[in-house]
Parts: sequence; structure tokens; C-alpha cells
Amino acid sequence: MSTRVLTGITTTGTLHLGNYVGAIRPAIAASREAGVESFFFMADYHALIKCDEPDRIERSRLQIAATWLACGLDTRRVVFYRQSDIPEIPELTWLLTCVTSKGQMNRAHAYKASVDANTAAGEDPDAGITMGLYSYPILMAADILMFNAHRVPVGKDQVQHIEMARDVAQRFNHLFGKGEDFFVLPEAQVDAEMELLPGLDGRKMSKSYDNVVPLFEGGAKALREAIARIVTDSRLPGEPKEPEGTALVALYDAFASAAERAAFRAELRAGLGWGDAKQRLFERIDAEIGPMRARYDELMARPERIEDTLQEGAAKARALAGPLLQRLREAVGLRRFQPLAAPARDEAKPKAAALPVFKQYREADGRFYFKLSAHDGRTLLQSEAFAGGREAGEWVKRLKTDGAAALADAPVQRGDGVGEDEVAQALAALVAAAAG
Ligand code: TRP
Repeated sequence: MSTRVLTGITTTGTLHLGNYVGAIRPAIAASREAGVESFFFMADYHALIKCDEPDRIERSRLQIAATWLACGLDTRRVVFYRQSDIPEIPELTWLLTCVTSKGQMNRAHAYKASVDANTAAGEDPDAGITMGLYSYPILMAADILMFNAHRVPVGKDQVQHIEMARDVAQRFNHLFGKGEDFFVLPEAQVDAEMELLPGLDGRKMSKSYDNVVPLFEGGAKALREAIARIVTDSRLPGEPKEPEGTALVALYDAFASAAERAAFRAELRAGLGWGDAKQRLFERIDAEIGPMRARYDELMARPERIEDTLQEGAAKARALAGPLLQRLREAVGLRRFQPLAAPARDEAKPKAAALPVFKQYREADGRFYFKLSAHDGRTLLQSEAFAGGREAGEWVKRLKTDGAAALADAPVQRGDGVGEDEVAQALAALVAAAAG
């Protein structure tokens, strides 16, 4: 079976060199590998959460679509679409929303950061926070689960969202799957190259630091001007320079072969001036993206062609999403009317599967412990010792409400011969039982 890789870009702005090196270039390269099925999309419903300027949304989604295509995406090989062309996604979002615990959303980093900022400013904690921001991770889970993606390449800041998607998938499978799994549990893929590209000032390239090198917008001129602003030390031409650790060399590396990298370093050490070095950098980058920029400009001049491409992509995506959503609707009870099955009498009801249980106890050493036991008595999780019962109790509570998402920090070990999946399933069962 092939591996499904899926990623989306929120359409609120234009893309910079960091997006190209960190996301687009590796995604397109991966899409050419055998055994990989790729899904790339414009996350334009997510854009609405952050932006209420319709013209900006319109421009950004067109620019980002054109960028993917200009960079060489082969739409015969990948499924390339706009999130908002797939009505199955918001529908799935609702089904997932109904099984997502609010407490878990309270702990989402993006939401928590907004609450903290409000609190620090002496405002109401939820001031200016929309339900869109609050529910952001559920929409993202629907993006991923709708296509049963195995791998999701993202930046570090998005890893928590993938974990939440796994969790909600597990809960849904458990509640409605009757032994069958509707959803694949996705894994985040965080590549070093997604994090490393520095901006003009040496910090990570990011709009919020105002240190970006534009990818296509503004043409070669904007590229040259941005490169001129790269911060360097004040050594003069002829003076030896230390290449390691400079933003200029890191940017060069992202576009150069091993031989070119070594040669560039040697020249700097031999006294190449920063101005000349910037000219080399410009030429190296432009050699790669110049031809793409020409395609980008052509594409931007003919938006209706991109529209057609995206309509084809939406049709491919919906051919997959539609049947899955139909099964999910059936599973939750949204079915075509027909004579009802005879109401089940109590004794005919299938017995609820025996649930695992948490047990808290105190040992002779005076310290407190808990463990999670399977219905057959095997120990699935064993806690470390706690000085107080209260702390042990809080961990039990967290594991019961958050399920496997709480495991990363929890001071527990799995029982002998117990696999990660079994623990995750046991916790999912408890979470589901608590949700009623
Ligand atoms: N939240 C992602 C970001 O801001 C964009 C996104 C939306 C996404 N849906 C997704 C990424 C699904 C991967 C998978 O970067």
C-alpha cells in the first residue's frame, strides 16, 4: 500500500524563500517518489480565522496556488485542491467536533497563547478570540482524516495539532467503528530543513520578524534588494571571513551542491567581499527560482487555467471524501429512513466491553501510586511514586480526559509486554466512556 502524505498552507499572505525551502520544495520532491500519494491544498477556511479581508484572501489563495504549480507540482500525480471546494471537510469537522473534548481544546497552544496575551494585558481571557480560532485544530483534524493521511509534514508549531487529530480519530474509531477503523492515525513529520532557513537577520525566516526574502513577488529586483539587506559583520574585502554561522552562507547552502558550498566557504576565508558574496548568492538562488518565477508570472496572468486545475483537483478529492463521509454518516446514525429495527430489549443489548480501570494506592513506603489495569487484570501502565495522593489523582484525571495525548509528559511506564497501541486504545475507551 502506498503512503499518503498531506499538507496544507494557510492562505493569508504570499510565500517567502523559507516556505519554498522548508515546505514546497521537499513536498514536491517527495511527491515524485514511488509509493507516495500526495495531497496538497490551500487551507482557505483556516485563512478566514485569521483574516477578515476578502481581497487579501482571494489574492493569497491564487498566489499560493500559482506558486505550487510554478515550482513544478505535477497535478496528475498529486491531489491538489482548495479546502473550501470540498464541502465534506466542514461536514466531517462537525462530526469530529461532537466527539472532541473541550478540555483538550483549552490546552491548544494557539488558543492558550491568545488567552495568556489577554491575561497579561489585563483583558478578559477570551477577548477577541473567535470560535474559529478555538476550533482550529478540529478543522485541521478533518483536513487530515478526510483523506486518511499517514504522514503530515509540518513545522514544529503544528505537532500538537497532529496529536489532537490522532486522538480524535482514535475516539471516533472507538465510538462508532464497531471494530472497524474509519481513520488512519496520522503522524507528524518535522524535517530539520523545515526549521532551519534563517532570515536576513539570522533569526528563523518569518513574516512576523520582518526578515523574509520574497519568493516570486516583486521579481528579481525584490530578491536582489532583500539579499542586500542580509546582516553581515563589517570585515572589508580582502579580510578573511568566517562563513560558519552566517545567514548569508546558510541561505547559499539551501541552494547549492556540496562542491559549491565548499568553494564558497574557501573564497570567504580567502577574503571575498560581502558585496561580491551577496552577488553570488543572488545568482545561485535566481538560477533555481528564476525559471519558476517566469512560469509564476504566466500563471498569474491566466487565473482561469489555475481555476480549471483546481476544479479537477476538487473532483479527485471529493471522489475519495464523499464515500468515506457517507460511511461516517451511517455510522453515527444519520441514515435514510426505513422501518426501525425492533427496539433492543435490555438483555439483548450487547454488553459494553469491559473497560480498563485506574487504581490509586499507597505503598508501605508511604508514597502514592496509580496503575491502569486491563479488564483481564494485566497492568497496562504503572506510575512512578508521588509524595501526595493529590498529584497522583490529577494525573489519573488528565489521562482519563486527554487520553494518549497526556502520555508524553505523564510519569508512567508501560507494563511488561504492553504495546503503545494497547495503551492508547485503553485510554481512548476511557475517554469515550467519560464523554458518555
Ligand atoms: N495549520 C497549518 C499551518 O498554519 C495549515 C494547515 C491547515 C495544515 N490544515 C492542515 C497543515 C492540514 C497540514 C495538514 O501551517
